[in-house]
Amino acid sequence: MASVTNHKNVPDIVVGRLPLYLRALGAMQAAGKQVTSSQELADWLGISSAQIRKDLSHFGEFGKQGTGYSVVMLQERLRHILHLNREWPVIVVGAGNIGSAIARYSGFERRGFRVLGVFDNDPGKIGAQAGPFVVQDAARMIEFIRERDIRHAMLAVPAEHAQSVTDTLVEAGIIAILNYAPINLIVPPHVHVESIDPVVHLQKMTFYIV
Ligand code: NAI
Repeated sequence: MASVTNHKNVPDIVVGRLPLYLRALGAMQAAGKQVTSSQELADWLGISSAQIRKDLSHFGEFGKQGTGYSVVMLQERLRHILHLNREWPVIVVGAGNIGSAIARYSGFERRGFRVLGVFDNDPGKIGAQAGPFVVQDAARMIEFIRERDIRHAMLAVPAEHAQSVTDTLVEAGIIAILNYAPINLIVPPHVHVESIDPVVHLQKMTFYIV
């Protein structure tokens, strides 16, 4: 198998499509499919087959020309590329509306992530239940992260607190932050932030209306 562990030069937009391929392949497997093609994947995802072939070509050969892709093998390769061939522990910071909803969501585990703890700094929330988790004191977060070598955090605190919580997370060793707060976080170069702001997406779509 070609080396697929370090592809730092692959465009971010390509990396962002790989989980979509993985999701489609998972659905194909659940539907009993064993072999697929870039055209079939393209039809499932609403993007062109040329784009899919181009994306995959960044990572070497994926099956023989004309024979299609093994659904199982292609998933394995994509998991390997995305470093999903192990389970990643994650913490949630902020046990409000969003944090509690994340804590209750059962869809992380079967796709490579296990929430290990939920943290908040509100004494009224510490010790309360958020889904299956007892909310822990954010003051104990650094210790918790270091003891378990956790790399991922989901950040669901108000925007005005997001940067200071981020600084703490980075100090503790977190290098991947999924940010729900509507603010641009400043992080060192080795830390990766992905932000989810539904308002931004709604605003983008209003461009196309009229
Ligand atoms: P929320 O106010 O219900 O919960 C925020 C939680 O963060 C609170 O429990 C608070 O005690 C905790 N917190 C504050 N400072 C903290 C700190 N330093 N350390 C640890 N915990 C701290 O807010 P909600 O609705 O859950 O939103 C969370 C974030 O997601 C906000 O930035 C919000 O703007 C954003 N968001 C929320 C949406 C929603 O539908 N609720 C939609 C889109 C974005």
